Amino acid sequence: MKTVEIDLGSRSYPIHIGSGLLTQSDWPSRLKNQQICIVTNETIAPLYLAQTKALFKDKTVIDVILPDGEKFKSLDTLALIFDGLIDAAFDRTCVLIALGGGVVGDITGYAAASYQRGVDFVQIPTTLLAQVDSSVGGKTGVNHPRGKNMIGAFHQPKAVITDLDILKTLPDREFSAGMAEVIKYGAIMDSTFLQWLDDNADALLDRDVSALQYAIARSCECKAQIVAEDELEGGRRALLNFGHTYGHALESLSNYSRWLHGEAVAIGMTLASEFSMALGGITAEAHQQLVEKLQKFNLPISADTDITSDSMIASMLRDKKSRDGNIRLVLLEGMGNAFLSDQYDRKMFTSHLEKVFAAD
Ligand code: NAD
Ligand code: GLY
Repeated sequence: MKTVEIDLGSRSYPIHIGSGLLTQSDWPSRLKNQQICIVTNETIAPLYLAQTKALFKDKTVIDVILPDGEKFKSLDTLALIFDGLIDAAFDRTCVLIALGGGVVGDITGYAAASYQRGVDFVQIPTTLLAQVDSSVGGKTGVNHPRGKNMIGAFHQPKAVITDLDILKTLPDREFSAGMAEVIKYGAIMDSTFLQWLDDNADALLDRDVSALQYAIARSCECKAQIVAEDELEGGRRALLNFGHTYGHALESLSNYSRWLHGEAVAIGMTLASEFSMALGGITAEAHQQLVEKLQKFNLPISADTDITSDSMIASMLRDKKSRDGNIRLVLLEGMGNAFLSDQYDRKMFTSHLEKVFAAD
């Protein structure tokens, strides 16, 4: 087992990463809470709920099974968790366990942040994306019909239990979507890791456990470093949004139905890298290497859509990083070195989007 620590003073916690951890490690006995609420969804419940419940034989355990899908990351679904907790008369000493991907993790974390003004929670991430990104760092929340992740809170888990064996049942497309976030860490802060991903691509695609353990641990170390420096996203944490300003716009303009989050981020990273190249921040060769890596992991690199450049700009302006009508972008100054900027050439930005997207 490998452990990565998130260093946040009294809110520090471990991320345990290994094969068979869900049932073969002693993490359940370290939880002192007597009331346990396991939140999962209807796809994951038949696969992993019974074995998770069986870990807490001497405690009061309830479960809440949510419908599956991004469209259920809503206030209505959140209420199902509160209903379960209140029906079971769970008090402030309870713990919520998020058993699922980023949707279950975000919504459960927000339920934990707000139930009786805040209770403990533990993440058991079951997608690659959740293992390398969403389960770490304490961003929790739900979508509003007019905007993604518009309602939420920062609430750190007590622990993250990452069992590599759980990825065996993950569909290939979801696995690739998670790889987009893994590649992101290399692009923004670790070019050596990018090279390692090239050298180990086949092992990762075969879901080789030791390759996965290294890739997930290195991703979590990168995120841990940034979160420890800037937990509440006053500055540097925004770098984790490389490709996301474009990606969120693509997701929202296609009603969250065409691309998985990681796929939209892959297209977004391609665009952000291409724009960085146009600005002279990276070489054409470095850009090409990033694109080839995304393709190697079966990720899309272009949108091929009737979305217009004007609608992209309007949507990107609604990004949470925008300030005073300016779109702030995460750009590259050398591969492995990202920075946040709204000081780029606006005309070049618009003409880049006009080349890629349809005109009105
Ligand atoms: P997801 O939670 O929708 O899971 C993807 C699909 O895989 C679902 O159908 C799920 O039921 C299924 N699944 C999950 N684990 C499985 C397994 N082991 N075997 C078989 N099927 C399995 O999607 P995701 O990509 O994990 O998460 C996306 C969400 O995460 C988005 O809502 C995004 O906003 C959020 N997110 C949050 C953060 C954060 O910092 N909090 C970061 C990145 C993304
Ligand atoms: N996924 C971006 C962040 O956690 O800040």
